[in-house]
Amino acid sequence: MGISFVAPGLILLLTACSLAISETDTIVVGGSENWRYGFNYTGWSLQHGPFYINDKLVFKYNPPSKNNSRHSVYLLPNLWSFATCDFSQAKLLANPQQGGGKGFVFELTNWRPHYFASGEEDGSQCEDGQMKFFAVPLPRWGK
Ligand SMILES: *[C@@H]1O[C@H](CO)[C@@H](O)[C@H](O)[C@H]1NC(C)=O
Ligand SMILES: *[C@@H]1O[C@H](CO)[C@@H](O)[C@H](O)[C@H]1NC(C)=O
Repeated sequence: MGISFVAPGLILLLTACSLAISETDTIVVGGSENWRYGFNYTGWSLQHGPFYINDKLVFKYNPPSKNNSRHSVYLLPNLWSFATCDFSQAKLLANPQQGGGKGFVFELTNWRPHYFASGEEDGSQCEDGQMKFFAVPLPRWGK
């Protein structure tokens, strides 16, 4: 008697869980400002966070041209390098060509802080241009 009663409930529960896990948001970094020099991305991330595991961040920026300066997306290794815009241990995620069209997509798959910054112009886009923010994705079941 037990099994036939429990099984349908269990299947419902598993279905609900997998639905919750597969749900994701796609978020354009900076919204209509896209990824540009001089926009406050820390402020933006505070307003648009929190972010959740499997959310997709989209970085949009034009490829370099006479009219457009170069931008990129790096992952900085820790809070200190983020605070000081130190790119010596940074990992390049998207080069200046990769922000065109639909943009560069980064999925927040790991539950840890992600420190993003543009590495162009010797770090000054990060430092003076405010092209940096961090995201600590939360588990989606907490949403
Ligand atoms: C950017 O926004 C944050 C959060 O609102 C604020 O603390 C910071 O002072 C701002 N930075 C600048 C340069 O305006
Ligand atoms: C670059 O700017 C110039 C002058 O504002 C304009 O005439 C030209 O069409 C622009 N080029 C592109 C690719 O947007």
